[in-house]
Amino acid sequence: MAAVAAVAERRRRAQPGMVLLCLGACLGMTLAVDRSNFKTCDESSFCKRQRSVRPGLSPYRALLDTLQLGPDGLTVHLINEATKVLLVLQLQGLQKNMTRIRIDELEPRRPRYRVPDVLVADPPTARLSVSGRDDNSVELTVAEGPYKVILTAQPFRLDLLEERSLLLSVNARGLLHLEHQRAPRVSFSDKVSVTLRSIWDKIRSLFARQGSKDPAEGGGAQAEDTAGDGDQPQPEETPEKAEPEESGAWEETFKTHSDSKPYGPTSVGLDFSLPGMEHVYGIPEHGDNLRLKVTEGGEPYRLYNLDVFQYELYNPMALYGSVPVLLAHSPQRDLGIFWLNAAETWVDISSNTAGKTLFGKMLDYLQGSGETPQTDVRWMSESGIIDVFLLLGSTVTDVFRQYASLTGTQALPPLFSLGYHQSRWNYRDEADVLDVDQGFDDHNLPCDVIWLDIEHADGKRYFTWDPSRFPQPLTMLDQLAAKRRKLVTIVDPHIKVDSGYRVHEELRNQGLYVKTRDGSDYEGWCWPGSAGYPDFTNPSMRAWWANMFSFDNYEGSAPNLYVWNDMNEPSVFNGPEVTMLKDAQHYGGWEHRDVHNIYGFYVHMATAEGLVLRSGGVERPFVLSRAFFAGSQRFGAVWTGDNAAEWDHLKISIPMCLSLGLVGLSFCGADVGGFFKNPEPELLVRWYQMGAYQPFFRAHAHLDTGRREPWLLATQYHDIIREVLNQRYSLLPFWYTLFYQAHREGVPVMRPLWVQYPQDVTTFSIDDQFLLGDALLVHPVSDAGAHGVQVYLPGQGEVWYDTQSYQKHHGPQTLYLPVTLNSIPVYQRGGSIVPRWMRVRRSSDCMKEDPITLFVALSPQGTAQGELFLDDGHTFNYQTRQEFLLRRFSFSGNTLVSSSADSQGHFETPVWIERVVIIGAGKPAAVVLHTKGSPESRLSFQHDPETSVLTLRKPGVNVASDWSIHLR
Ligand code: GLC
Repeated sequence: MAAVAAVAERRRRAQPGMVLLCLGACLGMTLAVDRSNFKTCDESSFCKRQRSVRPGLSPYRALLDTLQLGPDGLTVHLINEATKVLLVLQLQGLQKNMTRIRIDELEPRRPRYRVPDVLVADPPTARLSVSGRDDNSVELTVAEGPYKVILTAQPFRLDLLEERSLLLSVNARGLLHLEHQRAPRVSFSDKVSVTLRSIWDKIRSLFARQGSKDPAEGGGAQAEDTAGDGDQPQPEETPEKAEPEESGAWEETFKTHSDSKPYGPTSVGLDFSLPGMEHVYGIPEHGDNLRLKVTEGGEPYRLYNLDVFQYELYNPMALYGSVPVLLAHSPQRDLGIFWLNAAETWVDISSNTAGKTLFGKMLDYLQGSGETPQTDVRWMSESGIIDVFLLLGSTVTDVFRQYASLTGTQALPPLFSLGYHQSRWNYRDEADVLDVDQGFDDHNLPCDVIWLDIEHADGKRYFTWDPSRFPQPLTMLDQLAAKRRKLVTIVDPHIKVDSGYRVHEELRNQGLYVKTRDGSDYEGWCWPGSAGYPDFTNPSMRAWWANMFSFDNYEGSAPNLYVWNDMNEPSVFNGPEVTMLKDAQHYGGWEHRDVHNIYGFYVHMATAEGLVLRSGGVERPFVLSRAFFAGSQRFGAVWTGDNAAEWDHLKISIPMCLSLGLVGLSFCGADVGGFFKNPEPELLVRWYQMGAYQPFFRAHAHLDTGRREPWLLATQYHDIIREVLNQRYSLLPFWYTLFYQAHREGVPVMRPLWVQYPQDVTTFSIDDQFLLGDALLVHPVSDAGAHGVQVYLPGQGEVWYDTQSYQKHHGPQTLYLPVTLNSIPVYQRGGSIVPRWMRVRRSSDCMKEDPITLFVALSPQGTAQGELFLDDGHTFNYQTRQEFLLRRFSFSGNTLVSSSADSQGHFETPVWIERVVIIGAGKPAAVVLHTKGSPESRLSFQHDPETSVLTLRKPGVNVASDWSIHLR
């Protein structure tokens, strides 16, 4: 059935307007991407050209006599000795231990695209000064930074050193390759006419010089050199003639699609060498392992936002979003490379230790014969300039902060959005929505949000409602509001071409659509049929779009309606690689080629702004987006697109979300249950368990799948799902605090183990478990029929407590844990304090004033720390009026102290501390509570000698107050 559905959808997408029924022949088909729809590097002409540049032959020389040093950094010209084309390099030392390098043509025929709106501000610079010089190099010292930069003239390279150790080199392999823009190449007939014309011009100028009459005009007018004006193509300048034929450079065809490339080849490429580094991560989005693989001899990782139908796993193919940020890790150091380019990009990774076994490496080490391990990374983009930030760490947390200082941090989500979301394509009508809503109450399951997919709109005209199925959206929204629940509707960025549709009419009349090369509105095929694509790169378009979310414009919307932006890669069913033609025209005269990867970012941005605006700037937005770019974290959540109900897809959700978290996008989730196909009950249960511990927790399913609201499972599974949802909801104060920390500092919510245990090589390739903050370690069960899992508990001298049994384990060790279908292996680190709400109710909104229980897990030294963030859960008042609480809890010397971690914040709340559970504690003789201005009081407690859990009852203190509890 699922295969049939998949094939039907494939046809629906491939053959606009036609849903072909698939009979017998299709039944045996499995779900798999049609790879022929997507380019390999060899089929992408610039990637092929860039890759054909071989190492060790760099033609570039820095002209040291052009070097200029100013307050804004250094500039120096680079010459390509083969073509004599000049480039300009701008090097800036930035504060916080970063360096920025920009390389552009010195005299471009046409400006190259520089990515706007991603950086939150102009990064503050740190002064550079020349500290040494010889004939072939210049040494530069960066004020406020512990590192130096050595610029070598020939062949051109840059080396960044700290003390005497080399951190990173640029162009050490000589792969800098910037295709300078040249005169358009001319066809044979053009060439003939140009040649005839230039002969004619020569005759004219001869006549003119001799003072004779122009043979054409018969007069004595001064002849003009007309070869360069008008619409005539210009002949190539001499240097270009020396260059080899570049296939696909001036026009490229893929399948039936032709890219006209009016500006010719414009690609840029550069290599970075990372000595001492063997482990690299990031550059999402790929359906692949967390640790990046060497790509030599295979395909590079591709960054090109694409709607890949039925994507396959464990390969470097592009997916819906792109974040061009790579992290390199070694036990000694962490670095980051942020390649700020929004065009199609490919990344090659090579390593001098690839393929060597651990034993081989050890042997090298013992014999002293091994080279220093090194990873080389090569970036190749189709257009734009080279604009790269080197984030020099030194720790991974420093790299997170450096990157956050450039592109911003995760938006603080409204509390409700951390609850459970129930979605499917589609809930049929208002009655269906209200039934589902009621289903949660009837089965005593918490839920915060119900989602409506494309069928809710009138003929896929977004911002409207299907009049027969959703005639009273406001009443439906009211009913949900009464339950303190929300609704999310989908608003995609393709607009049905229909003269009766106001959105289309306004966009067309105001010229706000993306245009084709010839200036007419670009039209592509998507869900509504023929559709226009608003040009979100245009600020006026974004303002127009944001305004559409006002309650007046989006009729039938209400404050408890939030938004989902899908298909914003953009997806164009009949376009090349299911997206937009690269020669389509955007605001400012840029080609789609230049802006492709940032299109979805702008859709997300404009929608989030719209939700803020509709509340007069008071309410925090929630917007889910499928496409993303660097900086998208500022606008909301993302998910991993159309996965499948398969065990491997369940597994891959961990490295996919971890990779996103590493590059700033903490609010990530995967469709719980799998989008395509029908999960068997065991898989669905396991997926709930996984999703409950991932940042964005939404069940979603394809139109053709069977209904799968949790209560439709056989009754034996109901308690299991209830337990999963209860675990999620009781941890909401912890999740909310983690998101606040991500928002404040740029640290990921969901973390790979190596982020907390940077020295422990065992953690470097772990894909099947993760940390939430630094407190919880989660190893969800992701194998069918599992009877046990091998959990790696890291940390020399660390202890971990099983959150169910409180059993204590010492790290580092690999623990075999027997499991049943109920099990979600979660461990709390000794030394951490986790706040929970222990009464799970209908939705987070019903719980936000509930009392807190603190789970204090003691380290072997008898200490623990933790934080709790609280505010109203939905407005910007935490920012604009400092209405929040950030409490710090700290346990040592048998005393638990609650103090303010940010004295700026104040927030009146009825929330109180209901209980304190101290894990790993002995039995005290007495427990005493101190609060300011009150006499000390004794607390009742209970101690379980078997588990060493001490439970203190009813401290009863308000969460905002300072207090201490002493165990005597
Ligand atoms: C895309 C989305 C999916 C959604 C469907 C219909 O495939 O990824 O989540 O249900 O479109 O809108």
